[in-house]
Amino acid sequence: MKTFSPQLASRKLRGLSPLRPRLAIVLGTGFDFPLDALEQTKRVSYSGLPGFPRVGVPGHRGELIIGRWEGTPVIVLRGRAHFYEGHPLASVTFPVRALAAYGIRDLLLTNAAGAINPSFRTGDFMILKDHINFMGANPLRGTLSRGLSPFVDLSRTYDSTLRRLLRQAGRVSGVHLRHGIYLAVSGPCYETPAEIRAFRRLGADAVGMSTVPEAIVARQCGLRVGALSGLTNLAAGLGKSPLTHTEVLESAMRVRQKALELLRHFTRLHGRLPKDSD
Ligand code: HPA
Repeated sequence: MKTFSPQLASRKLRGLSPLRPRLAIVLGTGFDFPLDALEQTKRVSYSGLPGFPRVGVPGHRGELIIGRWEGTPVIVLRGRAHFYEGHPLASVTFPVRALAAYGIRDLLLTNAAGAINPSFRTGDFMILKDHINFMGANPLRGTLSRGLSPFVDLSRTYDSTLRRLLRQAGRVSGVHLRHGIYLAVSGPCYETPAEIRAFRRLGADAVGMSTVPEAIVARQCGLRVGALSGLTNLAAGLGKSPLTHTEVLESAMRVRQKALELLRHFTRLHGRLPKDSD
């Protein structure tokens, strides 16, 4: 497999636009918006960025946008590659390394997830407090030679400032936000009811198939990370109907406007952070 350097991809990004965003947002399943409200936009397909993975899942576009949203310069990644598609975690997380090399400081990851916590409802959104990596794989495996320590401290993976901004964005956009632990599985099949009962006992509030590898790599690169799940279904055994990817996408469509408002306000509030806030 040909390997690309994140620096090469970041140079390409720098040449794309004179804007220098410090914030990047990854739009996962259910968060795919055309983002017409962004100004001064430059768009590029992942296939035009060296090292970026191909994305093949319905609902994932594979396009990077640089622009201003509510005045805040931002990079938006529409769609991600997943481990379950067969991509190695090095490819799944390559865009995060490229964003770090570019100079991004704050990364907001979004995803669709199944609700495990019995007080959560389909259509709710959850701010990640922490995660459980149940993927059976780690993106830092074999990265000793990259010049960054693979022994990354994950005791505060999800940044308190970004979580506060998400809470504020929830208040101003009138979206009630939950808080909880996201458990990542490798997928692509959904879980069994017995697995979901076990995950609940482990302390998980929601289950999904992404985000955790990107969050881990982002922490290795020193980025601040925030993450938001759209709860598109009750996890296996908790709802009445069988789970399908179509249902997940349809359910996400229903709360699309809310999700867009949340991200819009988050981005606006992010632009008001003092430049050196840590
Ligand atoms: N399980 C795993 N991943 C998911 C789910 C789920 O129930 N819903 C959306 N992504």
